[in-house]
Amino acid sequence: MTKHIVTSQVEYDLAYKASIENPEKFWGEFAEQEFTWHKKWDKVLDYDLYTPEIKWFEGAKLNITENCIDRHLATRGEQTAIIFEANDPKEDPLHITYNELAKNVNKTANMLKANGAKKGDRICLYMPMTPELAYAVLACARIGAIHSVVFAGFSAKSLSDRIMDAKCNIVVTADGGYRGNKITPLKGIVDEALMSCDCVEKVIVLNRTNSKIAMEYGRDIWWQDEFAKASDVCPAEVMDAEDILFILYTSGSTGKPKGMVHTCGGYMVYANYSFRNVFQYQEGDIYWCTADIGWITGHSYIVYGPLCAGATTVMFEGVPSYPDMGRFWEIVEKHKVNIFYTAPTAIRSLATCDMNLVTKHDLSSLKTLGTVGEPINLEAWEWYDEHIGKKNCPIVDTWWQTETGGIMISSLAGVTKDIPTYATLPLPGIQPCLMDDNGKEITSAEAEGRLCIKHPWPSMARTIYGNHQRYAETYFSTFPGNYFTGDGARRDTEGNYRITGRVDDIVIVSGHNLGTAEIENAINEHTLVAESAVVGYPHDVKGNSIYAYVTLKDVRSESSEVSIENEIRDLVSRTLGPICKPEKIQFTTGLPKTRSGKIMRRILRKIAEGDTSNLGDISTLLNPECVEEVIQGKV
Ligand code: WTA
Repeated sequence: MTKHIVTSQVEYDLAYKASIENPEKFWGEFAEQEFTWHKKWDKVLDYDLYTPEIKWFEGAKLNITENCIDRHLATRGEQTAIIFEANDPKEDPLHITYNELAKNVNKTANMLKANGAKKGDRICLYMPMTPELAYAVLACARIGAIHSVVFAGFSAKSLSDRIMDAKCNIVVTADGGYRGNKITPLKGIVDEALMSCDCVEKVIVLNRTNSKIAMEYGRDIWWQDEFAKASDVCPAEVMDAEDILFILYTSGSTGKPKGMVHTCGGYMVYANYSFRNVFQYQEGDIYWCTADIGWITGHSYIVYGPLCAGATTVMFEGVPSYPDMGRFWEIVEKHKVNIFYTAPTAIRSLATCDMNLVTKHDLSSLKTLGTVGEPINLEAWEWYDEHIGKKNCPIVDTWWQTETGGIMISSLAGVTKDIPTYATLPLPGIQPCLMDDNGKEITSAEAEGRLCIKHPWPSMARTIYGNHQRYAETYFSTFPGNYFTGDGARRDTEGNYRITGRVDDIVIVSGHNLGTAEIENAINEHTLVAESAVVGYPHDVKGNSIYAYVTLKDVRSESSEVSIENEIRDLVSRTLGPICKPEKIQFTTGLPKTRSGKIMRRILRKIAEGDTSNLGDISTLLNPECVEEVIQGKV
């Protein structure tokens, strides 16, 4: 029988081969061995990548929380499940055991039920990174409600769009969230968001910061009051493998965010599988992923993957810069973290700091490092390897997406080779391929093209909530029969992949995916703006930053341009959140367009990058003369 959790290159090769030759056998065996099911599936996989329709473990019955919690209680009830490190380093950390986790999740589940939550309801979680967020996620899963976690840095408008899109009936939030020396007024933002939502009946508010907030009678209730009343016994709802587990929104290239839908069975299987293989988690290891649960990385690799594997997972409430830029390393030392998983943008910003902030901490507990979210540049990789890993820790560069649910391409720590700036090899079960501009698969070993996946894997998103047509068009129409990732990649002769970045209108700023169309829409709301185009340009720390070209309705004097510039930043920040604010704004009298009126973002991107050597043929443009003006006006 195939060894699924591999511990050597040879085992990896065997597992990979087995997974390609017979995917159903491969995943069927793993699912059967490793999880608690109420009923086994009728069929491992049923799919059609053209419609597209994908079903894994159809007919099976399960609850993911029984796999993440209950089944561990007999053997590791007193083991720590979650270590909570608060924003304030002086606040005592919490060590929450699996027994305590079970009780707290059950109480939270009963609290939700007492407030009207039922199987299939959508519940929005807009919360700080406290253990209650993990309880709420798992409590939803416990009762079969669908969680939609919205990152607590999003604006009221973004929050209300997401609540409305999923028609959530309950919002769980906190009075405020600590972030460094600031408090984000979460409840205030929820109140503003709910002014334009008619679907929400209850708001459950965790008191985290003792902030003064308004409570709406009949709608708003305190978490602490309700939680205290709730029983700590709550039987798990028995779910179909293909029932929805959660919705998570990600930026789209046409403006409106996409609610990616993940289902119970396949997601559980692959979150567990990828967590154990990539990080090579061993009994007793302390594992820390620095992401926020508001992103997919937090879903799969703070909550579901680690807990399903019976691991100890660290949750950090704060930011890397508070009280100083040594905070991450202080936490590694304090909790003797063995496996550390973060983003290139964090590494780049920490690498520019005083080295004393690193060297004064004992990092000898570390044995594996990971990175995720965007391509990691060589300099950052080497700094991470030398100063954090002391050249003694494998670095897993994990490529994946909200849509993929789990890590797709990555080295496996200490098992397969890591190569700086390469995500390297696909995990067993994952079949990547590269496509050329004509939509043909490039079969030569060494190649560069657009990255697709040609066979389903268990944790792939099944649809976009409420819009299957958009799901089909976005991911399955460019290269029919294949899932298109939106990324470009290069492959070497040994089959290692290097991700070169997005090939669509998504820009990754500090690890956050931003849709340029959404930012343009926000800018265009300004009464004086006629038109705008937003592109990304390389930034030393953030990876990319936002550059906005703006055409105004009237020709203004320079002084008023300065104030319009501030107003635009403010507008974007209020509409979408501060992370979307354009770093550079250039006013121009025109934007280069094709004869059919399409803005040539390719040209604008090159100009913003400062590379005007090869703009291609601009003579076919509607207004070639404006290109020179745009180049001259670069900011
Ligand atoms: C990018 C995050 C290069 C990529 C898990 C992808 C990466 C997008 C890597 C998904 C990596 C993620 N190397 N690029 N290791 N990991 N990306 O949905 O462009 O927030 O398409 O999921 O991030 O971002 P998302």
